[in-house]
Amino acid sequence: MSFFTGTKEEIEKKCKKELPEDIVLFIEKCMKKPHSESNLIAVLHKLQNKLGYLPKEKLQAVAYLMNIPAAKVSGVATFYHYFSTKPPGKYVISVCLGTACHVKGSDKILERIQEELGIKIGETTSDGLFTLEGARCIGTCALAPVVKIGDDIHPKVTPAQIPEILETYFKKSKESK
Ligand code: FES
Repeated sequence: MSFFTGTKEEIEKKCKKELPEDIVLFIEKCMKKPHSESNLIAVLHKLQNKLGYLPKEKLQAVAYLMNIPAAKVSGVATFYHYFSTKPPGKYVISVCLGTACHVKGSDKILERIQEELGIKIGETTSDGLFTLEGARCIGTCALAPVVKIGDDIHPKVTPAQIPEILETYFKKSKESK
């Protein structure tokens, strides 16, 4: 879909339709403030929280409504590792890299997951099953080191447990097919 055909009003309408209503309202609020461009990252955060990632056409709509060049918006979306322009995998794995988890060896857990799945932080497996993320403290330090997969919290994880943990999600996914 191209947003950039039609009158200014038509394009604006298309862009607004492309985005969730609360995001449009937030952009409108931002546009009333001086230096509205400085709110771009906040807008992208809200959009990603809502959709799970930042699709190209939504970024174009944000660019138009915020009066920022589309190339700049997609540059920001691809520059920061916490933004993703691709849909996340079925299961998002968040390895906590906060202090308590780090002290208990979360880097070794991350390494093992990377080895097992052949992906790095910010990537998704080619079968679309797993996306790997690093997280700051996820609020369960007493259970360190912690790995969150989807909505499940895995406490006191060791690198040796990783293959078995991942296997349960491979199985779950097959069963749900
Ligand atoms: S540092 Fe990992 S849960 Fe707090």
